[in-house]
Amino acid sequence: MRVLSGIQPTGRFHWGNYFGAIRQYIRLQDQADEAFYFIANLHALTTVRDRAQLAQWTLDAAIDLLALGLNPERATLFVQSDVPEVSELCWLLMTCTPMGLLERCHAYKDKRARGLTADAGLFTYPVLMAADILVYDSDLVPVGEDQVQHVEVCRDLAGSFNHQFGETFVLPKANVLETSARVPGIDGGKMSKSYDNTLDVFEDPKQQRKKIMRIVTDSRPMEQPKEPQIDHLYQLYSLFVDEAKREEMAALYRRGGFGYGEVKKALADAAEQFFAESRQRRRQLESEPERVREILAGGAARARKKAAEVLQRARVNCGVGW
Ligand code: ADP
Ligand code: TRP
Repeated sequence: MRVLSGIQPTGRFHWGNYFGAIRQYIRLQDQADEAFYFIANLHALTTVRDRAQLAQWTLDAAIDLLALGLNPERATLFVQSDVPEVSELCWLLMTCTPMGLLERCHAYKDKRARGLTADAGLFTYPVLMAADILVYDSDLVPVGEDQVQHVEVCRDLAGSFNHQFGETFVLPKANVLETSARVPGIDGGKMSKSYDNTLDVFEDPKQQRKKIMRIVTDSRPMEQPKEPQIDHLYQLYSLFVDEAKREEMAALYRRGGFGYGEVKKALADAAEQFFAESRQRRRQLESEPERVREILAGGAARARKKAAEVLQRARVNCGVGW
């Protein structure tokens, strides 16, 4: 079984990205026969227009993933654009893609609904994503809920290509990451770069502490008992501690008579401790960018080998491999 997923370098990773996606990728590297993870810089190009920024975020994403425990001996880590086969396959798939299918895709639909103009890159985004998946004969694609529709599009395209040109692609399955890990932001809404409410994994701890102290809480009197499960501060704290500590905090909430300041402090301590080892690994990796580039080059070479094989199959089957 081959697992594959991609993550866009559109900013620094936040707690939502870690608990919602990255942590599962790292776990899967030990469970799957093969795991391919890539940094989707071609997709990011549909939103990031600053070349220095995009290059920096791409390298940062690689360093972050390695620091958080992605093991390049177990998983193949690479940058999307280092495998040009994917772009050629994207074209082959595009010729079999009904316009209506893409018009129904939410990234494009949402942008249009907000009255914004979309370019062809955003419109055809799901086809590139399908090429990403199909070009490695991927079996399983772990993604967040928001990407399930795109994996379905990928299955549709693979199915119709196979139907027209004979068996070519493996039909992949989406593996929806547990939604229980929907991480709230500092305003209580879903944590997202788009809402400017994030706490970043590798933020300066002092600055992060200040941000945590500013987390919006409800204004009920301190003495009143509170239900922990529906409180976003408690939900955040729960991500970082074990069952016993969680229970201890929940009991404190139910008893009442505590200040949110204490919880915030406990959260800042827990988060700092949780990422301490990764932070140290990150510092080390940052000091040896050449090593990181080597890991990415090695990953791309491995990925290209597989991609070339699948692309050739597709070329021959549709008649351009003459
Ligand atoms: P953002 O919303 O900040 O732009 P992305 O869409 O780039 O984040 O997220 C990449 C992946 O990280 C998503 O597919 C999703 O699985 C996960 N993710 C993002 N935000 C959260 C969150 N608040 N809670 C849980 N998972 C999240
Ligand atoms: N579109 C995905 C996201 O925004 C990233 C991505 C690109 C991806 N290609 C992929 C995810 C292939 C899984 C498989 O999160």
